[in-house]
Amino acid sequence: MTDPLDFSFTVSATDGQARTGHIAMPRGNIRTPAFMPVGTAATVKAMYPEQVRDLGADVVLGNTYHLMLRPGAERMARLGGLHRFMRWDGPILTDSGGFQVMSLSALRKIDEEGVTFRSHIDGTAHRMSPERSIEIQGLLGSDIQMQLDECVRLPAERPEIEKAMHLSLRWAERCRVAFGEQPGKAMFGIVQGGDVPELRVESARALTDLGLKGYAIGGLAVGEPQAVMLAMIETVEPHLPSTKPRYLMGVGTPDDLMQSVMRGIDMFDCVMPTRAGRHGLAYTRHGRINLRNARHAEDTRPLDEASDCPAARDYSRAYLHHLVRSDEILGMMLLTWNNLAYYQALMAGMRAAIAAGRLADFVAETKDGWARAES
Ligand code: GUN
Repeated sequence: MTDPLDFSFTVSATDGQARTGHIAMPRGNIRTPAFMPVGTAATVKAMYPEQVRDLGADVVLGNTYHLMLRPGAERMARLGGLHRFMRWDGPILTDSGGFQVMSLSALRKIDEEGVTFRSHIDGTAHRMSPERSIEIQGLLGSDIQMQLDECVRLPAERPEIEKAMHLSLRWAERCRVAFGEQPGKAMFGIVQGGDVPELRVESARALTDLGLKGYAIGGLAVGEPQAVMLAMIETVEPHLPSTKPRYLMGVGTPDDLMQSVMRGIDMFDCVMPTRAGRHGLAYTRHGRINLRNARHAEDTRPLDEASDCPAARDYSRAYLHHLVRSDEILGMMLLTWNNLAYYQALMAGMRAAIAAGRLADFVAETKDGWARAES
């Protein structure tokens, strides 16, 4: 029997390397493969929490980097934690901060102890060690915490990739000690190693030896072609325990998600559906549609007449085009809603297809729908 108050992962069906199942934890179950909407600053931008839940998202992602700067980790704890603050009572996974420091802050410096950086908001100086990252994630009340790591953008030279991978391993160990034993919560390690297969294998094996509750693959979708990303997943997957969830960080397009699920990935997060929605782009069964384009100006069809999502079903493309061109807030809200609905429906479709042993057919049918609309 698994303890209902602990964190557990159950695989209920497999199809090739793909698997479907669920993570059980005190705040609720996460059906896998899962897509986690990104709620960087304690909000999934342009969405009400109730809408996110109604679309079938079981878990959202929060960012240590943003929340430590504003409103601040200790303040968040005084306010009762991130769940209460943003009115999301399901599981929350938090990224550790290292990746966002490297992409957003100025004057950042990495050494053995951690990262030093200046806030992108007000220029103030901050330091974050692996221990402080775990402490902050605890203050936020995060259910699934990520180790602090160093992610190298590609292309990069092997010595740089190797150094970052080894530093990330040492930080994984420190994070594991700092996290300790927390029933019902989890701390995931992050496989690094860029586009170098042997470094990826070394990273996956060493992390597996730490006996963590889940494993992420980081350092991908950072400038390399999709084929390289998929090759790295194939390299790493056999070296991760099949009994633990595998999370591909920061990925991706609908096709990336399908290709990665076929290679054994269980969890994803990405800003793509939400960010694209704020830039006039809609993901649909018929492919990606740019609502800014003049050809939609008098198109009375909805994005997808067969969708359950009102944003996709009830508003004309002409109206969405008008809202986007006019920079109206409702345009961003409707397109974000549509995009997250599409992503969640895609995940639900994959889960059902894996259970039925027909994932390859599902992928082919989905791609066929995109191709037919483009021609
Ligand atoms: N988000 C996307 N890629 C990464 C990564 O490599 N590390 C972390 N911490 N977050 C990510």
